Amino acid sequence: MKIVSKIKEPVYQEMELFETKFRNAMSSKVALLNRITHYIVNRKGKQMRPMFVFLTAKMLNNGEVNERTYRGASVIELIHTATLVHDDVVDESNKRRGFFSINALWKNKIAVLVGDYLLSKGLLLSIDNGDFDLLRIISVAVREMSEGELLQIEKARRLDITEEVYYDIIRQKTATLIAACCGLGACSVKPDSEDVETFRKFGELCGMAFQIKDDLFDYGGEKIGKPTGIDVKEQKMTLPLIHVLNICSKDEKKWLINSIKNHNKDKKRVKEVITFVKSKGGLEYAVQKMLEYKNEALQLLQAYPNSEYKSALELMVNYVVDRKK
Ligand code: IPE
Ligand code: IPE
Ligand code: MG
Ligand code: MG
Repeated sequence: MKIVSKIKEPVYQEMELFETKFRNAMSSKVALLNRITHYIVNRKGKQMRPMFVFLTAKMLNNGEVNERTYRGASVIELIHTATLVHDDVVDESNKRRGFFSINALWKNKIAVLVGDYLLSKGLLLSIDNGDFDLLRIISVAVREMSEGELLQIEKARRLDITEEVYYDIIRQKTATLIAACCGLGACSVKPDSEDVETFRKFGELCGMAFQIKDDLFDYGGEKIGKPTGIDVKEQKMTLPLIHVLNICSKDEKKWLINSIKNHNKDKKRVKEVITFVKSKGGLEYAVQKMLEYKNEALQLLQAYPNSEYKSALELMVNYVVDRKK
């Protein structure tokens, strides 16, 4: 059986029901908006975040979820979708999930407004149902994601990012939402337990590995449904490059920084940078760090009794680092 089917197996029914609820949660009376949200739901992503929500909840509550769990999963996927729509505007990216991005088809103005709409729909889903504890978890994540994106832009302008700052950025822009998935999954079934914090941490570690993997994709030539090789062009410095900057000679560093600062739109030069980073072991270093986060996440699970849900979560952690898109 394919690994994803295996992960989904213990939450198959929940994921089916989730899809219907998620689709409904997006609908609007404005025809243009409805056309666009249809376009979005028909090109769904991997849906890893709702899987994290349901697996965590079921693992902690003897296989039972509730309406709060469903709403939490929908809110998170709505917010995730909103941030992707905005992210493609910010990154000037024309591909998402193997198709044209919203900004590529409808232009930036509309993409910005659609992102805001999805975000507000997410928050309202919690508010209308009085899920205020879940809303707190989610709102913290939303704030941190914006801060992370802006910190990334600040660092891209100055080209002075350190490895520590890189971890701060990815913790905020990506790991925080996956942390919210697991924290919220726990909170939906065991509101006042210590498990909420343990699983928030577990999700955060998974999220760190997840974004390092995403940044590694940018160095590969594989088809992943969105553009690769664009980080250097966007002056976005990720772990492989940061590491190589730390270990290379003064002259090499000068050449690298100059390439990123002044020749980032020159395709040939960008290729040379990528080749150089690879030749200096930048990818291996990032893989090693990614696996450290993965192992830390797996360790947190060890304190819990074995179950089909725990096994699926373990598979999920492995999928984060082994996935092909
Ligand atoms: C993409 O997330 C955005 C990042 C945080 C890297 P996913 O890779 O989970 O996106 P979809 O939902 O599967 O398209
Ligand atoms: C991750 O940023 C997306 C968000 C956290 C909003 P990236 O710009 O690295 O993600 P992709 O590669 O476009 O999905
Ligand atoms: Mg981005
Ligand atoms: Mg992007």
